[in-house]
Amino acid sequence: MILVTGGAGFIGANFVLDWLAQSDEPVVNLDKLTYAGNRENLASLHGDARHHFVHGDIGDSALVVQLLRQHQPRAVINFAAESHVDRSIHGPEDFIQTNVVGTLRLLESVRGYWGGLDAEQKAGFRFLHVSTDEVYGSLSPTDPAFTEDNPFEPNSPYSASKAASDHLVRAWHHTYGLPVLTTNCSNNYGPYHFPEKLIPLMIVNALAGKALPIYGDGQQVRDWLYVKDHCSAIRRVLEGGRVGETYNVGGWNEKPNLEIVHTVCALLDELCPRSDGKPYREQITYVKDRPGHDRRYAIDARKLERELGWRPAETFESGIRKTVQWYLSHEDWVSHVQSGAYRDWVQKQYASESAA
Ligand code: NAD
Ligand code: TYD
Repeated sequence: MILVTGGAGFIGANFVLDWLAQSDEPVVNLDKLTYAGNRENLASLHGDARHHFVHGDIGDSALVVQLLRQHQPRAVINFAAESHVDRSIHGPEDFIQTNVVGTLRLLESVRGYWGGLDAEQKAGFRFLHVSTDEVYGSLSPTDPAFTEDNPFEPNSPYSASKAASDHLVRAWHHTYGLPVLTTNCSNNYGPYHFPEKLIPLMIVNALAGKALPIYGDGQQVRDWLYVKDHCSAIRRVLEGGRVGETYNVGGWNEKPNLEIVHTVCALLDELCPRSDGKPYREQITYVKDRPGHDRRYAIDARKLERELGWRPAETFESGIRKTVQWYLSHEDWVSHVQSGAYRDWVQKQYASESAA
């Protein structure tokens, strides 16, 4: 079996659902259920004996050691993190606690467990750390895309905490021999994406008749990957990745934010037109820029293709259409995640914003 952390969040839940759709190998899913963790994402696994959910913290060493002893996983896949840049600007502490201290404690718990395995199990064991392209910093419009050799130049509290965790993972391999793998992926989108991030926020705000807030000039570039392609890349790296290596994961889909929002609006115009017949893009408003906003991310994923034969299955056009359709057909999920805590965040982040 495998142990997944953060498997009630956006990417972790997609990963667990895809894993169990393709294999009968059981999953222990350890998640703290922060505001971003949602058991409803895993509702289709209710009563499925292959999925064992545990409510807990990766930093709770006693709990993690006990889970490892009890379930004897052949791999640990670490999705658990605080993941939202804007929240990290308002309150960096939680990011250091989970992304840095939590990863340290998880590595130590796993190292103890791994050290006690027999030689064959030890050789086959993997610790896969799921990370982000944001550790590399920001690119100018003409820079080549990030390769695995780019130096780390994180600019936000979020990316700094992820960079720190990546360094710890690397050091636990170099120093203690722990068989680690790291993936650094570009921006994901797709089902179960919490509506504080750009794409789901634009979909739910558009449908609710609210403003579509564009930070600064909207010309910041992100490289978008459909979440299920990220999950397939992680499975591929877990199966065949070389121990101690990092693999960039990306969709070859660099797009400015404004273009993303225009695309979402056009799809909504087609699939769920406004009752007044006007285009959704009329709801776009320009708001104050994010402090320290990274201008451009782009991933060079050729190493993953060359070594492990991975390519994304979705184009941006096919993936974004599926995503908008998913949100349109999951109104209950959307209304449940927009709980009191979510409303408090929206108030804090956007209430005082003035048009640029
Ligand atoms: P998310 O915020 O949607 O989910 C994070 C999950 O981790 C939640 O279920 C939360 O409850 C859980 N969690 C938080 N702290 C925990 C703790 N201390 N112990 C146990 N569980 C805890 O995030 P996501 O978008 O699904 O991202 C998952 C991972 O992928 C993160 O490590 C993130 O840095 C990385 N990543 C995300 C993206 C992206 O575009 N979303 C891109 C590249 C990499
Ligand atoms: P986000 O989804 O928060 O991902 P990240 O910051 O990790 O790349 O944001 C994606 C881009 O969209 C980023 O450049 C910030 C921008 N953005 C807006 O313009 N308005 C918004 O309301 C949000 C949430 C993001």
